[in-house]
Amino acid sequence: MCGIVGYVGKDEALPKLTKGLKTLEYRGYDSAGVAVLQNKEIYVVKDKGRIANLEELLKHEHIKGNIGIAHTRWATHGVPSKENAHPHMDDEKRFAVVHNGIIENYLELKDFLIDKGYTFKSQTDTEVIPLLLNYYYKKEKDVLKALGKTLQDLKGSYAILVISPLLGKTILAAKKNSPLVIGKNESGIFAASDIPALISYTNEFYFLEDGDVALLNDTITFYNDEFKPIKKKSKKIDWDMEATNKNGYEDYMLKEIMEQPEALKNTLNGIIGKKIEFLNFSLDKDYLDSITNIHIVACGTAMHAGLSGKYAIEKLCRIPVTVSVASEFRYQDPIINAKTLCIFISQSGETADTIAALKLARDKGAVTLAITNVFESSITREAKYTIYTHAGPEIAVASTKAYTSQVGILVALTLYIKEIRDGHSKESDKLKEELINLPKLMDVVLADKDIYKDYAKRMYKVRDLFYIGRGNDYNIAMEGSLKLKEISYIHSEAYPAGELKHGPIALIEDGTFVFGIATDAKVEEKTLSNLEEVKARGANIVLVADKEEAKDMDIIKIPKVNPILAPILAVIPLQFIAYYIAKEKGLDVDMPRNLAKSVTVE
Ligand code: F6R
Repeated sequence: MCGIVGYVGKDEALPKLTKGLKTLEYRGYDSAGVAVLQNKEIYVVKDKGRIANLEELLKHEHIKGNIGIAHTRWATHGVPSKENAHPHMDDEKRFAVVHNGIIENYLELKDFLIDKGYTFKSQTDTEVIPLLLNYYYKKEKDVLKALGKTLQDLKGSYAILVISPLLGKTILAAKKNSPLVIGKNESGIFAASDIPALISYTNEFYFLEDGDVALLNDTITFYNDEFKPIKKKSKKIDWDMEATNKNGYEDYMLKEIMEQPEALKNTLNGIIGKKIEFLNFSLDKDYLDSITNIHIVACGTAMHAGLSGKYAIEKLCRIPVTVSVASEFRYQDPIINAKTLCIFISQSGETADTIAALKLARDKGAVTLAITNVFESSITREAKYTIYTHAGPEIAVASTKAYTSQVGILVALTLYIKEIRDGHSKESDKLKEELINLPKLMDVVLADKDIYKDYAKRMYKVRDLFYIGRGNDYNIAMEGSLKLKEISYIHSEAYPAGELKHGPIALIEDGTFVFGIATDAKVEEKTLSNLEEVKARGANIVLVADKEEAKDMDIIKIPKVNPILAPILAVIPLQFIAYYIAKEKGLDVDMPRNLAKSVTVE
């Protein structure tokens, strides 16, 4: 959610900034801008729209300089517009600032500054930062002191980069509750919201903690929140740059759908043997026997994976599991304590609500476990334990391979808990075998691309679409429905199959498409009856199931597996159909409107 990047070094800053911005574009694409220091003056170019638009504008400018900062925006305060685009500056052009996060007390600060004679050009919360810097600089005559005073005034979250003619060839960086990484190579020093933005320049990174400040020039100087110099060790990240390319695919989403078998294989690699073992994570029998419940917290697709985790844990381990949407968790006064195992799922590891929920659970004494896909992401620094999914970088805004990897790791975790509490059983050995075999079955489902494309051609003009199922199939329905809405902009709803006749069935009319998901023999007949009910009201049914045929219904057949594992297979046709519908409509599937990949504000 908003991406920031900065460079100071021997080379021209602009190409490095725009390249960095392009890899950050998935974080937001409402507007973009750069500020470069040239001959002791700050030059800003910014506008509404995507980075390609900014690049066009830059072709007509002749900005040169070895130090600059840049931003791609997901609007929180103020519409997407040139005025609201970052970088923001004070009137005297002393400070240019890019910011990711939300300044929660910006109205109060704005009033304070207006009272002191300052005027605002934008509706953003960010603009208070350069103006406060200006105000405090005038009082203190010292940029670092001005920064310290400014940061003290800010409530909320921020990752900021600042350039100033007063500083010369130095970038100021500061962070609280928003991600910021710093990298270094022989050409210079970089700062950015995430690792992929910098991975083509360096694989050695420094991670700022909340409250940290850094001065980037020929070297990097770190300070803690009391402005005392601190030392930091860099960490090597072995990411394959290739993984961040489209590799010949038309879109990242298509590439990532196709990568799912490999992503699951990599995620499970080394975990499942005779015993299940995780790297740097273990729980003992005494602890697992002592817990009274498990609470899973996440947002969006990760929350849907969590629901399938609940299904698996309750079925196999008989431990009560609650799943909460992270943004609700904090405000529902959750009943958790030292006897609750709290699991937080986040592909990016940066989702503000999920991290805030984790901190709350930790404060209440619960053991916290993060499941994330991004190495060294913020969540890993807050949780007691971390388990990584190894799905590789997920760039498309709509989550696909992260979801199937999350469900896979949750099943592995379920088996781990079960085996520690109850010992080995034939049932758990069989499930382990099925889990390991899943990537091959995913290949089978992926091979039917053309069939899914045909469905999309039949459906892309509809106004509404429905997804129904029972048990774990309902969880799959929710994920299918979310994929469709977010990239095709078609209204869709998921319902427990038995719930339709309590109201929503009134929405069904002649020709309405309804997906039925039926992968669990125990409830299949019931789901089929519910599908009959909507068919009787004119609906077209598409059944995703592990059977060959059903009367008067189209069937998408998937291989038969334990219903605990079914989401990993059954979601694939739904991902594809959402994808092809969006393509039929000529939409940008990788960067759907109003969305951003990493939701770093609450
Ligand atoms: C949907 C989607 C979002 C994310 C949600 C959580 O396709 O991508 O719903 O799942 O924003 O993001 P993470 O997992 O990064 O915490």
